[in-house]
Amino acid sequence: MERINDILEKYRYAKENLIQIMLEMQALSGQNYLPKEWVEYVAQAIDLPLNKVYGVISFYAMFSTEPRGKYLIEVCKSGPCHVSGAESIEHLLGEVLGIKTGETTQDGLFTIVQSSCFGACDISPAIKIGEKVYGNLTHEALKAVIDICKEEA
Ligand code: FES
Repeated sequence: MERINDILEKYRYAKENLIQIMLEMQALSGQNYLPKEWVEYVAQAIDLPLNKVYGVISFYAMFSTEPRGKYLIEVCKSGPCHVSGAESIEHLLGEVLGIKTGETTQDGLFTIVQSSCFGACDISPAIKIGEKVYGNLTHEALKAVIDICKEEA
């Protein structure tokens, strides 16, 4: 739990930083999820009832208690992206990766999820992988992004 303690210290064990704490823990897991033991540990460390912590986890779509791909591909489905072809981007992603939205590739690299607007409307249609946003996506550009992820993995 040493690295969890580092995160807790960074956020001063403050309840109001729970979301930031969990975001960092999720990144630390390497599988984009919050292991049960970590959640229990944090609830105790910041003195919050476990059901409240799970309430926050289930409220935000960005959190998961199940392992997901190293690369979590968020496809924005809000208005501007929808109008600019988000559906066809989502479809192509599924085709290229051989999975449906919500699923993880067998090699554990990619999970596709739907997302609401993350502020990249001016470059719609857009996806987000981790902290990186990719916009103005054509089919070719999307395939190139996937190839880069595979090379970096
Ligand atoms: Fe897609 Fe804003 S509508 S990023």
